[in-house]
Amino acid sequence: MSIKTAVVNGVATIEIARPEKKNALTQAMYQAMADAINAAQEDGAVRAVLITGQPGIFTSGNDIEDFMQRPPQSIDSPVFRFMQALVGSDKPVVAAVTGAAIGIGTTLLLHCDFVYVSDESRLAMPFVGLGLVPEFASSLLVPELMGQRRAAEKLLLGDPFTGEQAVDCGIANAVLPAAEVVPHARRVAERFNALPPGAVRDSKRLMRGPHREQVLKAITDEAELFGKRLRSPEAMEAFQAFFQKRQPDFSKFS
Ligand code: COA
Repeated sequence: MSIKTAVVNGVATIEIARPEKKNALTQAMYQAMADAINAAQEDGAVRAVLITGQPGIFTSGNDIEDFMQRPPQSIDSPVFRFMQALVGSDKPVVAAVTGAAIGIGTTLLLHCDFVYVSDESRLAMPFVGLGLVPEFASSLLVPELMGQRRAAEKLLLGDPFTGEQAVDCGIANAVLPAAEVVPHARRVAERFNALPPGAVRDSKRLMRGPHREQVLKAITDEAELFGKRLRSPEAMEAFQAFFQKRQPDFSKFS
């Protein structure tokens, strides 16, 4: 299975495990992650959720072949079920990011409560370069978090950034040596075993609540354009270039 799940000591762990494809996420993997978050939400023994990848790679984002073969058809597609589950979780979610976090690998972090990155992490939201638009409410949350100027570098130019920069612009809590990221994130998640779960839930709702409707609206608005752009000639050129291991050529588009 490319998504491994386990509940240990009050922590529901979701491990992305498809290293041969750099942890690229397929529709089936999104569904498995949505199911795991929803199960954690219902399970009284779970106090927090931990999302991890593999050493050297958190995730390279959406599987580009899956994008081409099975583009999400509606807001009920697995990718959106995953987004809704993560946004709707009122249990704390901790992310442990070692290595690269690309596309949704970075945007999902905007919806986690704690994010730990490694000193070798590289984050990027290269949607525009793929002929796409930002997703997972990143068009709303990234400018809010770091201001329009720095958001433009990351969302319009798709500039990659380091773990250190992720902390600096408010996406991550701390940078750690790669081997310490998962153990540290797990320790943070386990701290919720000693806290009153009702107070944690109510507090998270208060912290995220007023924004939740706006975030869900942004996800829906982005999805409409994203779906159209997935089928655009610009995106086709970008996807083909990726698999042909060449630079895309957008010179013919106006
Ligand atoms: N979708 C589908 N396949 C992917 C993928 C993705 N997002 N990311 C990596 N892969 C595949 C590659 O095609 C390659 O497959 P192959 O061995 O059959 O040729 C394999 O995973 C290894 O990737 P490779 O690019 O050779 O590894 P690398 O270490 O040189 O680079 C990355 C790693 C993550 C920097 C690079 O793979 C990458 O940029 N991936 C695409 C990221 C992206 O644009 N994601 C979409 C965001 S919306």
